[in-house]
Amino acid sequence: MDATAEQKYNFEVVRWFSVMAVVYLVVGALVGVYIASELAWPVLNFDSPYISFGRLRPLHTNAVIFAFGGCVLMAAAFYTVQRTCGVRLWSDKLAWFVFWGWNAIIVSAVITLPLGLTGGKEYAELEWPIDIAIAVVWLAYTFNFLMTIATRKTSHIYVSNWFFLGMMVMITYLHVVNSLAIPVSLFDSYSIFSGVQDAMIQWWWGHNAVGFYLTAGFLGIMYYFVPKQAGRPVYSYRLSVIHFWALMFGYVWLGAHHLQYTALPDWTGSLGAAVSLAMIIPSWGGAVNGMMTLSGAWDKLRDDYILRFLIMSLAFYAMSTFEGPVMSLKTVNALSHYTDWTVGHVHSGALGWVAMVGMGAIYHMIERTYHTKMASPALINAHFWTATIGAVIYIVAMWVSGIMQGLMWRAYDEYGTLAYTFAESVEAMHPYYAMRAIGGMIFLLGAVLMLINVIMTVRKSVSEGSLQQARASAI
Ligand code: HEM
Ligand code: HEM
Repeated sequence: MDATAEQKYNFEVVRWFSVMAVVYLVVGALVGVYIASELAWPVLNFDSPYISFGRLRPLHTNAVIFAFGGCVLMAAAFYTVQRTCGVRLWSDKLAWFVFWGWNAIIVSAVITLPLGLTGGKEYAELEWPIDIAIAVVWLAYTFNFLMTIATRKTSHIYVSNWFFLGMMVMITYLHVVNSLAIPVSLFDSYSIFSGVQDAMIQWWWGHNAVGFYLTAGFLGIMYYFVPKQAGRPVYSYRLSVIHFWALMFGYVWLGAHHLQYTALPDWTGSLGAAVSLAMIIPSWGGAVNGMMTLSGAWDKLRDDYILRFLIMSLAFYAMSTFEGPVMSLKTVNALSHYTDWTVGHVHSGALGWVAMVGMGAIYHMIERTYHTKMASPALINAHFWTATIGAVIYIVAMWVSGIMQGLMWRAYDEYGTLAYTFAESVEAMHPYYAMRAIGGMIFLLGAVLMLINVIMTVRKSVSEGSLQQARASAI
């Protein structure tokens, strides 16, 4: 079966994307730990602009979202579309172009961001020539995916492919519109939008990067890998389709919840908050759908460590999609905005949902595409616990520090003057910043264990001859 699969499908590009995803996870988490430590112990900035918090922070977000997240999404979409459509990728050459193009973009980010070359838009920092490259590579990825679906042998298009496609279409136009800029030199440009319009376009992109890239794309992963790893059909296929359409129509309206109490018209923030609240329903429906796939087979969690990642990710997905809508309410946002609560929310989604579901999918794909079992189940188990404990420590530290920050900033004494100076609030944060850095280190340790396990598995596959055998019988 494996040999035929090797012959029929392009697994080589999936293997490369999968391995690179793990490498980028380690790098991105390492930079995350470093910037977290800089916030706790500022001496680590070493008075050097190149490694200052301000320059390394976008390097961290780009590394985890676009390098790690991007490689996971590309590996998973290329793997899933082949398996569910029963055909090879439409073009091997285009798939390799996507692999090398995406990695070249990542390298250019690693060079330009520490040099301070940035457009200054969050999650869209890269300068205009790189933005054009992103559009070209992303379109090549989309086109290859779409053409593979067009040549499918099955009559039905499995729901994961709808999620991937939704992400691809939406990210194309969000990226292009948000990046529209007038270049003034090779490394400098000005956004064509200005003032409040610029802010609105930025957060229309910003929230939809969350909604379509970090959520819809990773839900495509969830809907394929949870049932596959559990060996059971998804609990309710009908619910998964409702989940898809509700997300596609709902997410585009949310961006304004990032701009409550700003120069933006008040009604836009109210609309953002109202639709955000409504999003709890499809999000929880999807999370329950994924979890209930295990209904009657919960015992599988006892010894299937890969499945544990996938199911735990759904618990975090449910948690962050409850927290987000609550934070979008104006009264709550008045407290949470500008504080570490937002950073805690981000990482409950990022570490708990995006990274966990991504790691589960990568373990699954490494086993299937290297035609062997992971070299050390004990290391997967250790990774599961370090990732979970690290994420929980990180999130709890940020909740406490965020809410404390918000409360300290708004506290008045009996004369109507502020009860605390800003510096006092910074001092109060210190223990929580140290705690976050420790949580991050534990999470990073898990990522390193994953990398070691993946290297051991690749070597095991070579020494067992499983990959060679599968390749030989494919000729
Ligand atoms: C070892 C793990 C990690 C650590 C220690 C870490 C640490 C940090 C720190 C210190 C910040 C800056 C917060 C601030 O500006 O106050 C940050 C921002 C961010 N990180 Fe991480 N991070 C980790 C993993 C991840 C992962 C895996 C993802 C995504 C999949 C991620 C996504 C983000 C995002 C989106 C932001 C921007 C948050 C905002 O603007 O509110 N991080 N991270
Ligand atoms: C229904 C689902 C969700 C809603 C309604 C929502 C809502 C929100 C709100 C209100 C904020 C704070 C805005 C501010 O005060 O500036 C926020 C920030 C954020 N959320 Fe969510 N969230 C949801 C799910 C998620 C998920 C699953 C992730 C996954 C990683 C995520 C990632 C982020 C990021 C990265 C930010 C920080 C943006 C920044 O300021 O740089 N959210 N979200």
